[in-house]
Amino acid sequence: MVQTIMVIGAGQMGGGIAQVAAQAGYNVILNDIKDEFVQRGLGIIDKNLSRAVSKGKMEAAAKDAVLAKIKTSTSLDDAKDADLVVEAAIENMELKANIFKTLDVVCKPEAILATNTSSLPITQIAAVTKRPDKVIGMHFFNPVPVMKLLEIIRGFMTSDETYNTIAEIGLKMGKVNVEVKDSPGFGSNRILLPMINEAFFVLSEGLGTAEDIDNVMKFGMAHPMGPLALADLIGLDTCLNIMNVLYEGFKDSKYRPCPLLVKYVQSGLLGQKTGKGVYDYS
Ligand code: CAA
Repeated sequence: MVQTIMVIGAGQMGGGIAQVAAQAGYNVILNDIKDEFVQRGLGIIDKNLSRAVSKGKMEAAAKDAVLAKIKTSTSLDDAKDADLVVEAAIENMELKANIFKTLDVVCKPEAILATNTSSLPITQIAAVTKRPDKVIGMHFFNPVPVMKLLEIIRGFMTSDETYNTIAEIGLKMGKVNVEVKDSPGFGSNRILLPMINEAFFVLSEGLGTAEDIDNVMKFGMAHPMGPLALADLIGLDTCLNIMNVLYEGFKDSKYRPCPLLVKYVQSGLLGQKTGKGVYDYS
């Protein structure tokens, strides 16, 4: 029975995951390496809930109850109290391997260790632990409180019991679950990122302005936002990382990252988080 969920990483994704977990009634431990990062994550959750209250979609008391469910932490030792840990730290294999090695030692033997990675192999992360049957991918989408999808990725050794527990939690969080096997880019990013990458090729070839390219997908295909604006939301560095994972994973030239995307990243223009990407947010 999962009652307490620890979320590692209080950034955009981790904060969102902590919010939906608390709203689903779980006790949440929100962890990051510095208290300042945890407080920033909590601040975003507070703002999201306050917006819901001001729109009349939530009672003020319900907001307070959700916030009261979230404890803060800056030590992985606090994972000893968790039945499920969802890691949403930065996308770096060495860092994630270290986190999972530590969690494997600290956590109860029956605890499930999940990762929100958007591209790193679940099987490889599971292999650093002595419980690969209890390691799984829980891939949320940005903004987490809004996007309905939970992509659940089974590693090579993930057990049915682990999968079923996570699928139940996904439903409790109000998500639509999809189950995919471990493969570069999983299901979602294998489909999404080549479209975004192609939009950068179309832009670099001067076929249209960024706004026109985005409007093609917004008004022609009813996407809520165009691929270039979406790249800015995801982070251009994350987009490039995922393209590299697809390119290296499949060794197929159809996944080669667009040189214009590479130039944006080299220039530090990473999208909304840096105030400038394809569009200016300053
Ligand atoms: N956090 C929480 N809630 C948010 C939010 C945020 N960051 N941004 C918007 N919202 C909420 C708003 O409060 C509003 O809620 P209500 O309906 O309850 O009032 C609702 O979302 C709609 O927001 P807005 O009216 O401000 O704006 P919008 O209608 O233009 O929607 C959007 C904004 C939800 C971001 C929409 O443009 C959208 O769905 N875009 C596509 C996002 C997407 O594709 N995400 C997946 C990215 S891929 C990924 O994350 C995974 C990966 O591995 C790369």
